[in-house]
Amino acid sequence: MMNTKVFFSSSFFLLVFCSLSIIALDLTVRNKLILDAQIMRFREYPQDETSRVYQHYKNMHIHQTLDFVLSQKQKYSHFDSYLELSVEEVFELLGTFIDPSDPDVDIGNAIHNYQTAEHCRQLLPDVDWFHLVGLIHDIGKIIYLFGEPTWAVTGDTFPVGYPFSKKCIYYNLFKDNPDLGKGSIYSHHCGFDNVHFSWGHDEYLYHVLANNNTSLPAEALYTIRYHSFYPFHQEHAYLELANEKDLNMLGYLKLFNQCDLYSKHDDVIDYNDIKDYYSQLIRKYLPEKLRFFKPVTFKTIRQ
Ligand SMILES: [Fe+2]
Ligand SMILES: [Fe+2]
Repeated sequence: MMNTKVFFSSSFFLLVFCSLSIIALDLTVRNKLILDAQIMRFREYPQDETSRVYQHYKNMHIHQTLDFVLSQKQKYSHFDSYLELSVEEVFELLGTFIDPSDPDVDIGNAIHNYQTAEHCRQLLPDVDWFHLVGLIHDIGKIIYLFGEPTWAVTGDTFPVGYPFSKKCIYYNLFKDNPDLGKGSIYSHHCGFDNVHFSWGHDEYLYHVLANNNTSLPAEALYTIRYHSFYPFHQEHAYLELANEKDLNMLGYLKLFNQCDLYSKHDDVIDYNDIKDYYSQLIRKYLPEKLRFFKPVTFKTIRQ
């Protein structure tokens, strides 16, 4: 077996890394890969300090610390404290929620979910779990309704307990984060599943799905968990924490990201035409109602 240290320190690492992720994909999928450069034109972040996006990241980069993340994990670890909701019911609750961290779109979240799902379906027509990932990837935003501030719900994610990468968006806004200047608590190539990430809808939904009775494959759970980890899937930062699983999964993250981004400028679709298709997918992979873990102190849904 190849020595891990030698492998990762090679100057050809990035090439190997990209090859691994591409090899993991079917040929037809590879033919559909769109250049990252095209994707990035969707992510033009304002420097205007009064903009909602700038303010969102300012708060996020100040407050997302290792201690905060650990306390959030504790807060949502009471598996006997939950709301039972169907996917459709969560869509209704999140219907008008607009992601304040997103510079590209001002549409409600429910519309975005169907648009993303339809893009996933076009990209990989035969991989039906991928379509369902498109549909449900953002339903973890329900934690906003549990009273979480938006900076603990959305935005690009990044490891905590580890030096912040300059490839993170608005890196300069980490300057007031109490963890700035602290070292790593992880060993090299420990794998992202062993790393604590900034807390948000991605991590939350992963835990919900992992603790409900679903038949989603591991690739689906991984894509949901790391879909906002732009520093990795677009900028290839934090490679020193990645393990073989992360490299093999990168192809799915990149594909999914195209669907998540490109659907944002689409016309609003008539989902009456496609509802039946997604209903049968939900029935195939998910229980009728999902248990959404909530803080024990939570009483009423935020309006
Ligand atoms: Fe998301
Ligand atoms: Fe999304």
